[in-house]
Amino acid sequence: MADLILHPGDRVIMVSGASRGIGAAIARALLSDGYRLSLASRNPDTIDELFGHAPPERLMVTYFDAQELKSAEQWVEGTISRYGRIDGLVNNAGILRNVGFNSGDEKDLNDLWAINVKAPFWLTKLCLPHLRKAGNGRVINIASTDGKRFRHGGSVGYTMSKHALIALTHAARIEGWDDGVRATALCPGAVDTDLLAGIQNTAPVAERLQPDTLAGLVSMVLGLPNTASVAELPVNTRLESYI
Ligand SMILES: NC(=O)c1ccc[n+]([C@@H]2O[C@H](COP(=O)([O-])OP(=O)(O)OC[C@H]3O[C@@H](n4cnc5c(N)ncnc54)[C@H](OP(=O)(O)O)[C@@H]3O)[C@@H](O)[C@H]2O)c1
Repeated sequence: MADLILHPGDRVIMVSGASRGIGAAIARALLSDGYRLSLASRNPDTIDELFGHAPPERLMVTYFDAQELKSAEQWVEGTISRYGRIDGLVNNAGILRNVGFNSGDEKDLNDLWAINVKAPFWLTKLCLPHLRKAGNGRVINIASTDGKRFRHGGSVGYTMSKHALIALTHAARIEGWDDGVRATALCPGAVDTDLLAGIQNTAPVAERLQPDTLAGLVSMVLGLPNTASVAELPVNTRLESYI
């Protein structure tokens, strides 16, 4: 099948956690590429403050709490009633809690699982029919190098959640392949955002990735044709074998 031509202005992309950090950088890059965006987090007012200058016909902002299945349903339904289509889903919203064999508790582990894994699962499930219809749907999951290996001193709970998110990415890629859906797990090392505030045992600030660098990669992956599938995209800040 000849590749469909991907015009950003015709495509609607959903980005979770667009209020700050990597998600805000992704939203900024995709807005400048010309996409129509559906942005969400628990703080829609913050997103409005960041992107209120955008052309109104290319911007939708919604309340979304990754811990509530209902709000995932409402976000997807709202996007369809606003734009009539969904071409891409960027599962970016995520949290880091220190859950190890001697730290953290059941609530921390449940929160990691609900926000980092279950919400991307539900959003992917809800979006898949629309992504299939598009013929060139895209799912980009912001995983982590912690989804590729366990790093000494890392959070066991966070690492488990990011491994699961990569598994979800591969499942979506296989499930949607015949209908042109391509899924990518973007796996960054340490990024200079709020997420790492107060976290020990991570790269010093000067050696961290910048959110804009990752936003550029998301923009690049979204623009690839169906014949160029990137299943995983690790981006490391330090020297490690294979990642
Ligand atoms: N920073 C790093 O070093 C790093 C490295 C690898 C991967 N990642 C991943 O990259 C993604 C973005 O992280 P970041 O560094 O940009 O973190 P951040 O600056 O802490 O931002 C996290 C984003 O997720 C949203 N979020 C958190 N809990 C939510 C919930 N319950 N419902 C809806 N949205 C929620 C936040 O929005 P509200 O608070 O407005 O709801 C915020 O927009 C995460 O999945 C993270 O695991 C980060």
